[in-house]
Amino acid sequence: MTGNPYGEFDDARREYVIHRPDTPLPWLNYLGQDELIGLCTNTAGGFTFWRDARLRRLTRYRHNNVPLDLGGRYLYVNDGGTVWNPGWKPTKTPLERYECRHGLGYTRLVGARDGVEVKQLFFVPPGETAELWQTTVTNTGAAAKDLRLYSYVEFCFYEALNDMTNLQRTYSIGEVEVEGPAIYHTTEYRERRSHYTLFACTRETQGFDTSRDAFVGVHNGLHEASVPFTGASQGSIAHGWNPIGSHELRLRLEPGASETFAFVLAYVDQGEEPRFERPGVVNKATGRRLLERLAEPGAVDTAFDELRAMWDGLLSRFQVECPEPSLGRMLNTWNQYQCMTTFNLSRSASLYETGIGRGMGFRDSNQDLLGFVHLVPDRARQRILDLAATQLADGTCYHQYQPLTKKGNAEIGGDFYDDHLWLILSTCAYVKETGDTSILAAPVGYADRPGSRDDLLHHLETSIAYTLANRGAHSLPLIGHADWNDCLNLNCFSTEPDESFQTTGDVEGSAAESVMIAGLFLYASRELAALYRHLGRPDDEERLGRAYDEMLAAVEEHGWDGDWYLRAFDAEGRAVGSHERDEGAIFIESQGWCVLGGAGVGNGRARKALESVHERLYTEHGVLLHQPAFTRYHPELGEISSYPPGYKENASVFCHAHTWIDLAWCLLGDGDRALDYYLSICPATKEDRIETYRNEPYVYSQMIAGRDAAVPGEARNSWLTGTAAWSFVVAAQGILGVQPDYDGLRIDPCVPPSWDRFHVTRRFRGVVHEITVLNPNGVCGGVRAMTVDGRRVPGNLIPLSTGTGTIHVEVVLGAEQAAEAFG
Ligand code: GLC
Ligand code: GLC
Repeated sequence: MTGNPYGEFDDARREYVIHRPDTPLPWLNYLGQDELIGLCTNTAGGFTFWRDARLRRLTRYRHNNVPLDLGGRYLYVNDGGTVWNPGWKPTKTPLERYECRHGLGYTRLVGARDGVEVKQLFFVPPGETAELWQTTVTNTGAAAKDLRLYSYVEFCFYEALNDMTNLQRTYSIGEVEVEGPAIYHTTEYRERRSHYTLFACTRETQGFDTSRDAFVGVHNGLHEASVPFTGASQGSIAHGWNPIGSHELRLRLEPGASETFAFVLAYVDQGEEPRFERPGVVNKATGRRLLERLAEPGAVDTAFDELRAMWDGLLSRFQVECPEPSLGRMLNTWNQYQCMTTFNLSRSASLYETGIGRGMGFRDSNQDLLGFVHLVPDRARQRILDLAATQLADGTCYHQYQPLTKKGNAEIGGDFYDDHLWLILSTCAYVKETGDTSILAAPVGYADRPGSRDDLLHHLETSIAYTLANRGAHSLPLIGHADWNDCLNLNCFSTEPDESFQTTGDVEGSAAESVMIAGLFLYASRELAALYRHLGRPDDEERLGRAYDEMLAAVEEHGWDGDWYLRAFDAEGRAVGSHERDEGAIFIESQGWCVLGGAGVGNGRARKALESVHERLYTEHGVLLHQPAFTRYHPELGEISSYPPGYKENASVFCHAHTWIDLAWCLLGDGDRALDYYLSICPATKEDRIETYRNEPYVYSQMIAGRDAAVPGEARNSWLTGTAAWSFVVAAQGILGVQPDYDGLRIDPCVPPSWDRFHVTRRFRGVVHEITVLNPNGVCGGVRAMTVDGRRVPGNLIPLSTGTGTIHVEVVLGAEQAAEAFG
């Protein structure tokens, strides 16, 4: 048992079990893996959308509500006048038993009181656009029970921003149709939509409501909704105002008896079918067929089995047994799961991302790919091409695009001059994972040249060329509006409270430079050079080698502060992240990227930079973004100094950037540091301090409040963060050292000397690699000997095998780790 009174990991079932509904914050899970996605908290809160949380939202959710997390997939039980919910909310009637199990793509709830137990299982079957709520009601008492059950969802009119703001319109457009247990939400169907939302029950129902005013009551809250308390549905038909879906079910259960049925919440596209049955009446054939299929005996169980099998298959691609339980637990299940969630959602919809502002981020998704490419390589391929298509002909990129339309937009700004370089990292990771070099020739145009056709490789070259051509006085890359740190705005000097830091224009001709982009360029250009080597194109490899050398010279000549790398030069040419500054004297981004890019090798600076980080920025909660925190607003540095000290980009532990330092320790071969840093932000280690940490202990958060904050160690903004992908890279490729490469799987661990062995199962290029690593001499790394199926193999590269079977690899660590390039 840990010190967490709210829940615990159930590793065998790959579930996180929550025993109390009043968690420090709502603890979220996601349903759905393809097109239909649901957010589901431990009290059944959340909403559901199809593909795009902004443009195709099916149910409503009020993010900043009081109390938090109200609105969701609710079931009210009226048992002889007492009304309760199996997920506790919204009535919060005390339960005798409550349990929530968040699993992979599903959530189970059990609520019980007064001899009635309700079990619910929420999930989206693979390949369906329907969310199912399988529900089992059992009479566990000694007397017969007459129960009334009421389901509840509130429909959203698809475009979530308009839905929330344009009430003079939306209050007059709502429409529904009801057919037996099927409620059809048909708002805007009469005009340009060919889809509707279906909310139905696979069991016979005894009543329904579709008007929120009728069901809840104009002046009531959901906890006192009038229909469940009076026990009589109204059969209301919504005409405008706020359409909802609610069914009434009457159950008579003898002692020990139970009944199982399912609610279905579906997005139904009419496709080519006629849109109307007769004038004004929606053609429901597609919806009816879907319901018939799901109402077949066993259909829901079969669909759930498919979901379980899907995840077993996905996760079997990477599994580890090692001496550190938190690392194993995260890697084997939750970290990979979170990586898939960032694949599906980028930064669009969570409890902290409202699904309206941020779609798929260019830099974010390219980095996320590093964590899911081994799980869904085919879909990763498409993602790379979608992203590349939002690059502009000059090499810069749209910072984000809408998943539905795949069109880039500048709604949250543009001119982030790191963006384009991440495309090189994702592409190289994809080719290493799959061996599929054909992607490089895949046709993809530039977003500002409609009809243009180029190939992906050309996009990578355009990225390199842009950075080379746009450098400043120190030959370092221009930063533009910002680099990875959105809030280091060296060119915008905003003094108006009503301006957005992200979209406010940069001053003309300003030439602030970024040492972090320089480091990223080193890394990216070396990656691309290695790709050319693999392709047998020595001239191109050499050309990139020269660009690398040139950038490295600029970094070493102008980017070193004495004990660490500078962060940037501001618009006036003054050093940022220098001992000369009283606030923001040392930053981590440039330490991470310069070292990962190969700077500081041979001159001691790499180690010096990391030791400086360790001394000044490392805390028990992770590595701070910079120190000292900004206590006043510095217009020449932008949004970064707008946050209170210790939060967000102002000196929190920004977990994403923390991982680069960790990876850099792996590169330098310090296994104790690598693991300590890994564990310092690892959510599974936070259970003992959950009252402080507050967020879900099974997924990474974007940030943990830093040393300067009121409550250091408090996490914020869980789920959608690049920390997921990078932590996977750190643990899988850095610490365990299992690195996909063009010609095989490279083994280059960096473990604590106390680890005597570990085992990794890795599916790579169709072959299952069973890899046992032994550490008889208690070292951090360095491969002394390796055998593949008993045969000695030189070096540390497991050559590509033919076939689809299993190979057994034994690795003995021994020689000191070569300080060779990572990746
Ligand atoms: C957020 C953004 C990401 C950015 C980071 C640092 O996580 O999604 O793009 O790099 O903040 O500002
Ligand atoms: C804000 C956030 C930052 C995020 C950016 C995206 O600046 O602080 O983390 O990346 O918004 O728009």
